[in-house]
Amino acid sequence: MKIAMGNDHAGIDLKEAVMEVLNARGVEVVECGTFDHSSCDYPVFAQKAADLVASGECDLGILMCGTGVGISLAANKVKGIRCVCCSEPYSAEMSRRHNNANMLSIGARVIGTETAKAIVKAFLDAPFEGDRHQRRVDLITAIENGEKIY
Ligand code: RB5
Repeated sequence: MKIAMGNDHAGIDLKEAVMEVLNARGVEVVECGTFDHSSCDYPVFAQKAADLVASGECDLGILMCGTGVGISLAANKVKGIRCVCCSEPYSAEMSRRHNNANMLSIGARVIGTETAKAIVKAFLDAPFEGDRHQRRVDLITAIENGEKIY
């Protein structure tokens, strides 16, 4: 498995904890930055990581900023990206099982490192269940493609 990872200055300290989980699993990580604490603009790193996922170069993506909100909003502007901002493991698990989420976003100023690790594990371990959920994900894609679905 190959993961695209992106963060801004507010998310950088959490990256180490997330890397622990990924390294322990032998996951290949493509780091998209930022790489220091200087103030930067999260959409840049969201787009870099999201492009890798959308193109198929990476299987999934993990993003971190202060709240996890801004960076997920930016990633979701990339066609084909379904990025979820999660503060607990259950939503992360279900976002894979039911929504086929392909990117996870975490707020470094919102949750602690142990919760972040549990969220990442839940996200990576859960499979997409397909079936009726595929139909709903297809409807999300239809909206993305400008179709009216009602
Ligand atoms: C940076 O201060 C902060 O605004 C950013 O990390 C993020 O929380 C935005 O959604």
